[in-house]
Parts: sequence; C-alpha cells; structure tokens
Amino acid sequence: MKHHQIILYIFIIYFFHVSTSRESENLFNHSKRLTHAIINGEVRSNGTLLNIDRNSHIIIELRLTRDDRPRSIARTKIKLDSNRTKDPFSLLFKLKYPLSKMNPHNTYILTARIRNSQNKLIYVGDLPVPVTERKEKQAKHLIINVVETPSWFSNIDKLSLLAYKVTQLAGTEEAFTSDFYTNKKSGIYTCVVCNSTLFSSKHKYNSGTGWPSFYQPAIEKNVAADVDRKYGLTRTEVHCANCKAHLGHVFDDGPQPTYLRYCINGVALQFYSDEYDRK
Ligand SMILES: *[C@@H]1O[C@H](CO)[C@@H](O)[C@H](O)[C@H]1NC(C)=O
Ligand SMILES: *[C@@H]1O[C@H](CO)[C@@H](O)[C@H](O)[C@H]1NC(C)=O
Ligand SMILES: *[C@@H]1O[C@H](CO)[C@@H](O)[C@H](O)[C@H]1NC(C)=O
Ligand SMILES: *[C@@H]1O[C@H](CO)[C@@H](O)[C@H](O)[C@H]1NC(C)=O
Ligand SMILES: [Zn+2]
Repeated sequence: MKHHQIILYIFIIYFFHVSTSRESENLFNHSKRLTHAIINGEVRSNGTLLNIDRNSHIIIELRLTRDDRPRSIARTKIKLDSNRTKDPFSLLFKLKYPLSKMNPHNTYILTARIRNSQNKLIYVGDLPVPVTERKEKQAKHLIINVVETPSWFSNIDKLSLLAYKVTQLAGTEEAFTSDFYTNKKSGIYTCVVCNSTLFSSKHKYNSGTGWPSFYQPAIEKNVAADVDRKYGLTRTEVHCANCKAHLGHVFDDGPQPTYLRYCINGVALQFYSDEYDRK
C-alpha cells in the first residue's frame, strides 16, 4: 500500500484592505466602510505530489458553512509548476474576500483542492478558519492536511440535503422519520458516504426513541467516538472511522450484553439485506 499523505502548510497572515484609510483596522469594525480583507498565505508540501501533470492547479477557497452545503465566498486558482512537485515546495497565495459576507457567528473553512489537467481531483484538504479569533494584524499559522482524494469523496456531493447536514455538519434527523427505525430484516447497515460496514441487524433493537438503535457496531474499529459538547450537553458522538461521516451518539443505557445504545440517524446508513443477496 502506497502512502500518499502530503502535508500542506498554510501560513496565514491577515491584514486588512482599507478603502478609506491607510490604518489597519479591526476586521469587524465597519465604521470606516471596509470592503475587503486579504488572506496572505503560503502553501507548503513536505513530500512528493504524485499524479501531478503539466496543467495541474490548486484552488484555494474560503467557504462559509451554516446549516447547508458550504458556499464559496472567495477563491483563488494557482497553476502548479510540475517541476516543483517532486520536492518539498512552497507556494504563495493571496485570497481577497468581501467583509460583507463575514460574520463571527458563522463558521468558515479554507479548502485546498489540487486538480490535474483532466480536472480530476487528486488532493483535498479542509481547514476550519477561526474567524472570531481574528485580531488586528494577527498572524496565524494554520496547517491544512491534504490527502489523496479518497474514492468516496465525490459521494458527498450526491447526498440528499438532510444526509449532508447529518453526516457532514453533525445534524440530527427527526425522530420516527427513518424507515430503518422499524426495519427488522436481516442484513448489514453501511455508511451512506463510503459504504463501510457499520452495524448489523443482529445487534439492532427497539429502543423506543425513534432512531435506529444498536447495542454494538458490526465491526468495532469501523465506528469511532468523540466527546460532543454541543448544546451544553456532554454526549459521545459517533462517526464513520473511514470517512468521518457523523452517525449519531452512543449512550450507556442500552441492553445487555454491552449496555450501550448506539442512537443512529437512518439517513447516515444504507441497508443491504441478506435475503436480497440470496436471490
Ligand atoms: C471602530 O473604529 C472607530 C474609529 O476608528 C473606533 O473609534 C472604534 O473604537 C472602533 N471599534 C472597534 C470595535 O474596534
Ligand atoms: C511530512 O510531514 C508529516 C507531518 O508533519 C510527517 O509525518 C512526515 O514524516 C513528513 N514527511 C517528510 C518526507 O518529511
Ligand atoms: C522545468 O524543467 C524543465 C526541464 O528540466 C526546464 O526546461 C523548464 O525550464 C523548467 N520549468 C520551470 C518553470 O522552471
Ligand atoms: C456496499 O457494501 C455492500 C456490503 O458490503 C456491498 O454489497 C455493495 O456492493 C457495496 N456497494 C458499493 C456501491 O460498493
Ligand atoms: Zn463512511
């Protein structure tokens, strides 16, 4: 197995473009009619970029995420010099974005996408940008991890909006809305994004909650957990270990033998019936 992880380092120095004054300004001080801010960054790779060809390019985008698919609010495209990709390289970029689109209550991600001449996405990386922490003349050192595009990556764009919100933005479907809640057929439940095997009908039970519930994963290492402190509650979030899709939460009020309750959003799953296979 080849290991293709490339780390791109992005060094960001924020400075603010002032339309009516030369003085630098607080990003959110609109009293002087600031129009745009500029992110000056540097992309560095410490390894060899494979599959790069003559017309490969990197697109750096600042994207706004609310409770929807991210929207691009600024982007810049840089051609990659294929000579430089054999060695560690450093690449400067400047991204100008409209301040009218910035709000400390939103979240932003800086994404780097490397495409080759056939427009095939070969490296991807996301970096959350802590907008609310920005201070005047503050310099940030941010690191973006760009990995070779996984095979499931394009499936994210094909998700329903609800499945997108649940798996990518840690949302929750309404209780009693998933057909899987009452599904008693024998089979396996896989990740809606990457099709990794997550749960089995063997461990499914009626929890009375309105969400498909299991007392253990089908394959333990395929389901990963994290502490989630959203809404002032401390819960254990569970996600697909392979693609990081959010699945739901795990609680310790389940049945024997584990006493765990994996409370899973049906839209995060696909069901493969055993019966169907036999036909
Ligand atoms: C905004 O700019 C004005 C004029 O320079 C200044 O008086 C005010 O304190 C600034 N406000 C903030 C929140 O920085
Ligand atoms: C590149 O950076 C990563 C993360 O810092 C490190 O694990 C890896 O060994 C580095 N590779 C090279 C070739 O320096
Ligand atoms: C890339 O390498 C080729 C061959 O070594 C050389 O002719 C060309 O000038 C280089 N291009 C740049 C932009 O350095
Ligand atoms: C998804 O996984 C199931 C179960 O392993 C398999 O039967 C199915 O062919 C897979 N689907 C795709 C599109 O790979
Ligand atoms: Zn997955």
